[in-house]
Amino acid sequence: MLIKGPASVELSEKVAEITGEYTVQVKTKVFPDGEIYVKLDGDVKGEECNLIQTTYPNRHLLELYMIQDALKENGAESIDIVVPYYSYARQDQLFEKGEALSARAFAKRLEIEANKFYSIDLHSEKIVDFFRIDAENLSAMPILARHSETKDPDFLISPDEGGIERIKKAAREIDLEWDYLVKKRLDAETVKIKPKNIDVEGKSVVILDDIISTGGTMTEAAKQLKKEGAEEVHAGCTHGLFAENALDRLEKVCDSVFCTDTIEQERSEVSVAPLIAENL
Ligand code: R5P
Repeated sequence: MLIKGPASVELSEKVAEITGEYTVQVKTKVFPDGEIYVKLDGDVKGEECNLIQTTYPNRHLLELYMIQDALKENGAESIDIVVPYYSYARQDQLFEKGEALSARAFAKRLEIEANKFYSIDLHSEKIVDFFRIDAENLSAMPILARHSETKDPDFLISPDEGGIERIKKAAREIDLEWDYLVKKRLDAETVKIKPKNIDVEGKSVVILDDIISTGGTMTEAAKQLKKEGAEEVHAGCTHGLFAENALDRLEKVCDSVFCTDTIEQERSEVSVAPLIAENL
């Protein structure tokens, strides 16, 4: 049985079309004081349940806890949770005394009423180790790479060194050259970002990242590639958070901006449904 988390209804339906699972809706509402109400719209007693619910914005994380609790209370046989975008993953280590390790804090809560956890392009691989239940990190990079082909790129590029493994995986999928950007400090005020090995003059490139949040990383990367002479720069990511005016900023410099439906929105040009279905 597939439980359609309110944050991932369309994605859940696409998955169910592939897996043939029976789906159950979740009714939800927000009270005037901001508190949330959640109700399963079906009988889950004795069922093996797959629940898909992304956790952005914050409200959806609370819904996830509540749905897990309702599934347990209503006699679900097992609960596998698919969290397409696992929020708070960027605080995956402690920098200062007294900080909360948020990626671990939420893992501890989620695993209480779950048998298995799946996510996609977790910001860091080590997050799976925060779970004491079976946890799996799936990669949307092959899907994004195939979609990137529609932009006819000469290269795939990671905006930073942290994305090297991701970009390698994407490039392998479509047999294309890849590179990453390196930041070079010229003086106290100026940094220059350049591709390490390739010349982008007159070329078309797709920059791929796991997350676009404020768009700062991607905008800077795209600006620099254009300065280096790139003809076209396209920006793609798995998780399109597009906080505040990120899209406006990106559109000023990029030829196109796209993401998957781990967070469902207008820029979700490509679906992770086949990836989830295959793994469930
Ligand atoms: C950083 O390590 C991540 O991979 C992304 O590059 C980053 O989270 C993007 O954030 P923003 O869009 O705010 O620059």
